[in-house]
Amino acid sequence: MGGVPAKPQSFIMTKEHRRYVEFASAVRRSKTIGLCYGPAGIGKTVSALRLSNWNTIAPELTRVHWEDADAKLAAACARSGTVFHTARVGASWRHFRDDLGLDMYCFGRVVALDVERRTGQKTRGPSQVELVVVDEAERLNAAFLEWLRDEFDCNAMGVILTGMPGIEKRMSRYPQLYSRVGFAHEYRPLQKEELVFVLQRHWRKLGLEMNEDEFTDAQAIAAVVRVTGGNFRLLQRLFAQVERVMKINELSSLTEDVIEAARSTLVIGAT
Ligand SMILES: Nc1ncnc2c1ncn2[C@@H]1O[C@H](COP(=O)(O)OP(=O)(O)OP(=O)(O)O)[C@@H](O)[C@H]1O
Ligand SMILES: [Mg+2]
Repeated sequence: MGGVPAKPQSFIMTKEHRRYVEFASAVRRSKTIGLCYGPAGIGKTVSALRLSNWNTIAPELTRVHWEDADAKLAAACARSGTVFHTARVGASWRHFRDDLGLDMYCFGRVVALDVERRTGQKTRGPSQVELVVVDEAERLNAAFLEWLRDEFDCNAMGVILTGMPGIEKRMSRYPQLYSRVGFAHEYRPLQKEELVFVLQRHWRKLGLEMNEDEFTDAQAIAAVVRVTGGNFRLLQRLFAQVERVMKINELSSLTEDVIEAARSTLVIGAT
């Protein structure tokens, strides 16, 4: 089983996440291949983990043999229908195949066995996997993609390949796979209104109350928008520095100057 990325401290239900869920449902329904792309740090992995409930399922799937899985795990798998996999750097395609293949098999068997127990009817395992999300898909080479295409053809399921912008171009080099791509979805950064909502939480964490209509706060918000462009990861890194700057200087209000001072300590430009 591939390593599972850590859960965010507290998930925020954003418009982008809802758009992602819609996209994933369309891919699942049409049993097609979908590409999801967007710059680093905007929430692609977090959305996929939330959709698949993988942070809950994966540790259980590793802990127990599928035959010993309980109804609770089976229900979680059945609800999600989704297997999440992070393509690893330097992994051989056999490793990838074994890792993801095993997850898909166990996941399918856990659900199937539960159905069998309840109804007394035999079911086929892997067909229980309705969607596979592969994260960091630019790490996949031709052999990986060929195997995935074959799995896709055999199992009548949806596949989402997630990566940075440019992944569409990269995938177009594999015509057989590319011809099966039904949707391409751009994951976008937080828009202004939602960013303000997220910022209110950051303000609160610092023990402050934000007032959007107040000049100082409006200026500080504008500075955050400028610096982060609505990127979740940059927001977190920026606010870790904001907290530091405020503490060191014993400040009690969050101004544009504080944001600027925090920004200057960051190496930004990854987006
Ligand atoms: N909906 C959300 N609610 C709360 N925090 C979030 C949310 N989305 C993203 N984050 C925070 O932003 C960070 C970056 O998100 P994530 O890892 O999903 O980005 P990514 O788009 O997958 O980036 P990369 O391309 O570098 O893998 C997360 O670690 C998380 O802390
Ligand atoms: Mg990611």
